Amino acid sequence: MSFSIAIDGPAGAGKSTIAKQVAKKMNLIYVDTGAMYRAMALYLIREKVNANEADKISEKCKSADITIRYENGEQVVYLNGENVNPYLRTEEVGKMASASSVNGDVRAKLVQLQQKLASEAKVIMDGRDIGTCVLPNANVKIYLTASVEVRAKRRYDELTAKGETWDLEEIKKEIAERDHRDMTREISPLRQAEDAILLDTSYMGIEEVINAIMKICEEKGLWK
Ligand code: DC
Repeated sequence: MSFSIAIDGPAGAGKSTIAKQVAKKMNLIYVDTGAMYRAMALYLIREKVNANEADKISEKCKSADITIRYENGEQVVYLNGENVNPYLRTEEVGKMASASSVNGDVRAKLVQLQQKLASEAKVIMDGRDIGTCVLPNANVKIYLTASVEVRAKRRYDELTAKGETWDLEEIKKEIAERDHRDMTREISPLRQAEDAILLDTSYMGIEEVINAIMKICEEKGLWK
């Protein structure tokens, strides 16, 4: 029997942190779809394709073989046989992922992979179009968000902790731009599915958000 939880929301809302922990508690496979768009973006960057070259992106994406494996409970993304996990979480790749994910051919290819994964295991999947497009029949749909200010501050703290120097206002501007692009693109824009439950995490701690999701599952009879 298939079982899935869909988590959508803008960048920096805490989707992956939350989904990973709910996956552990409920014994689900966590599927990070953003990482797949990032792997495709990395491929395009390496192939020297520009974000605005739509035809070239459509053509090039055919030769990017993206597969997922689970190693020690972690999702590992392989790009043409290479483990690319260490290269996915940079600002450059994130920006290119947001830009190239507007492409219909890129989306068709990755949505197919995501649906296959969900048909093979009980999953909690996060992204932008999971509840609206990838898993329209998900058992639970959550739309996780937070204010731009809070999301920018979280990102700033994360980068500062890594020893990087960033300007908070600059991060805020980039997040707002990314939101705009993800929400206004033609194909599968980021939006709350009609049957999704909204969780604004601006003033919630991680544990609180996890508990809220577990409670929703409990109320639906999906968790004891
Ligand atoms: O969640 P993330 O920051 O890793 O995602 C990177 C980009 O990939 C995001 O800006 C938009 C795109 N994306 C998408 O279009 N659909 C998804 N299901 C996941 C990510």
